[in-house]
Amino acid sequence: MVEKKLAKKIGFIGQGWIGRNYADDFERRGFDVVRYALEEPYVKNGKGIEECDIVFIAVPTPTTSAGFDDSILRQAVKAVGQGKIAVIKSTVLPGTTEKIQAANPGIYVLHSPEFLTEATAAHDAGNPHRNIIGIPIESPEYRQKAQAVIEILPYAPYVLICSSREAELIKYAGNNWFYFKVVFINMLFDLVGKTGGRWEVVRDAMAADWRIGRTHLDPIHKSGRGAGGHCFIKDFAAFHQLYKDIVGDSLGSEVLESIKNKNIELLISSQKDLDLLTGVYGEEVLEEAFHRSLFSDLPKKNKKAKCLVTGGAGFIGSNLVDELIARGNEVVVIDNLVTGKREHINSRAKFYEADIRNLQAIKPLFENVDYVFHLAALPRVQPSIQDPIGSHDVNLNGTLNVLVAARDAKVKKVIYSASSSAYGDQEKMPLHEGLPTNPMSPYAMQKYMGEGYCRLFTQLYGLPTIALRYFNVYGQRQPLEGAYTLVIGIFIRQRLAGEPMTIVGDGEQRRDFTSVIDVVRANILAANNPRVGQGEVINIGRGNNYSVNELAKIIGGPTVSLPPRIEPRATLADNTLARDILGWEPTVELSDWLEKYKKEMGL
Ligand SMILES: NC(=O)c1ccc[n+]([C@@H]2O[C@H](COP(=O)([O-])OP(=O)(O)OC[C@H]3O[C@@H](n4cnc5c(N)ncnc54)[C@H](O)[C@@H]3O)[C@@H](O)[C@H]2O)c1
Repeated sequence: MVEKKLAKKIGFIGQGWIGRNYADDFERRGFDVVRYALEEPYVKNGKGIEECDIVFIAVPTPTTSAGFDDSILRQAVKAVGQGKIAVIKSTVLPGTTEKIQAANPGIYVLHSPEFLTEATAAHDAGNPHRNIIGIPIESPEYRQKAQAVIEILPYAPYVLICSSREAELIKYAGNNWFYFKVVFINMLFDLVGKTGGRWEVVRDAMAADWRIGRTHLDPIHKSGRGAGGHCFIKDFAAFHQLYKDIVGDSLGSEVLESIKNKNIELLISSQKDLDLLTGVYGEEVLEEAFHRSLFSDLPKKNKKAKCLVTGGAGFIGSNLVDELIARGNEVVVIDNLVTGKREHINSRAKFYEADIRNLQAIKPLFENVDYVFHLAALPRVQPSIQDPIGSHDVNLNGTLNVLVAARDAKVKKVIYSASSSAYGDQEKMPLHEGLPTNPMSPYAMQKYMGEGYCRLFTQLYGLPTIALRYFNVYGQRQPLEGAYTLVIGIFIRQRLAGEPMTIVGDGEQRRDFTSVIDVVRANILAANNPRVGQGEVINIGRGNNYSVNELAKIIGGPTVSLPPRIEPRATLADNTLARDILGWEPTVELSDWLEKYKKEMGL
């Protein structure tokens, strides 16, 4: 029997850690082994594979942001000689072995899930717990081929011949079970620490239960946290997609999504296997995770609400739309694209190119809406001085239309984007909501009057409203060009063009710059919080200010002076109300963001 076994010539395609360890084991046990791979020194052995009776194939089957990819495997199978047996060791989606068999009728294609652990692969290869062979066709002939493979494998206490679809899933079952375990153990680890317990004690007591077992109980593994390595990340992504496509249960898919996100957070927080992570999910995964972390503390109360965002193609509006969608809401966008950009509108939002000055056109779009975020406006000071009637029409008449439509549709709340420009020049800083207003431009006046209309609609018609007075907003998608550009955008554009930065007046006017991330957070908190909606006016400002000269210094580069113009000397928010009533606090500091932004823009 032993001689008969050893007479067989065994091929291995792929000499990564799996293929190499299996080939080593067979060689140790006296088999005639041929190793073939695309790299030296194995690349010349392709011909030898053809003569092998049984060929194990352990080549990469990556899952990338474009999906599961078995093209390398399909290519590799072609090296196997006619009438011989190909055993796929690579992890593959259910049904793959059947398809490869159908495409290669002259050979026998089997699947054998591999269970090696990366760290102990050499030992595991020779001491398997399970020998499982999946056959694509149920017949005595295929069973016999599977038996022939089992005979040359090292002894295992558990042996199974099953369908290849079952074998393929058994592999996913194991890996994803451990993935769940790793994420759970990491969560438990945090809880044990926070409750003053010792992890080692809890861990060892758990391990003493044989049903739990000792494996995967070390949350800090290979100096990082989370399920990493060459298999977990890609196999979970493939499994997640498979479940969504085949089972299609939305709750189950949400569970998998959350577990994935938690794992990504663990990996990123400890900088573990980030190359493997981006290989599977694309570079965006790092940015998305960062973004999620900014909002992770917000309550998820308005989940799956229907939200209408006017001005959702604009700078602040499009950022808000993205976040509302990321939080699972249905979002309708109204925008006439006068300054907004179509490419900024989230593809998952329902977009209507409509004008808020036209009540009849927008009214039907408010049907069944829960929350209205009203941002559409002609939002800059200087243009409103040039065209007070045009800006009044949009900023005030448009706002009145939005309030009427919201009232008639009985929406739960209107969150109105107000402006700190309502304060105008003030003697005392910081600016708090109790101060008398002093609008110094048509724009400031119109935005301020909009607040009054909101309050009136609450008092008169019982429509819940709240006005958020933003202080100079900056961030992703801020305009760099056009008449509406803010000072940060102007400076960046000038620097990119190699021009000096233009400083209006003496440059000592100070502005409280607020990140769009924090403005979006404020909107979500205002919608969620059941205690607001009585027409309150609340400052949303960072609470520190920079002079235009200081700003130019941080950005760096030559400057020139322009004549002064009518504008407030300083803005500085008192954000006590936002903190106390909304539970809001600023999270982004301008100088930190500018450093990052300058790098992105190549400055
Ligand atoms: N950016 C700031 O620093 C700041 C500060 C205080 C308040 N605000 C307020 O925040 C809101 C958003 O400002 P932004 O900076 O994102 O400006 P933005 O110009 O980028 O966005 C405004 C959006 O409204 C749309 N719009 C204009 N007129 C419209 C109309 N008649 N019908 C439909 N859509 C129309 C525009 O196309 C644009 O997409 C505005 O209400 C503004 O007054 C902004």
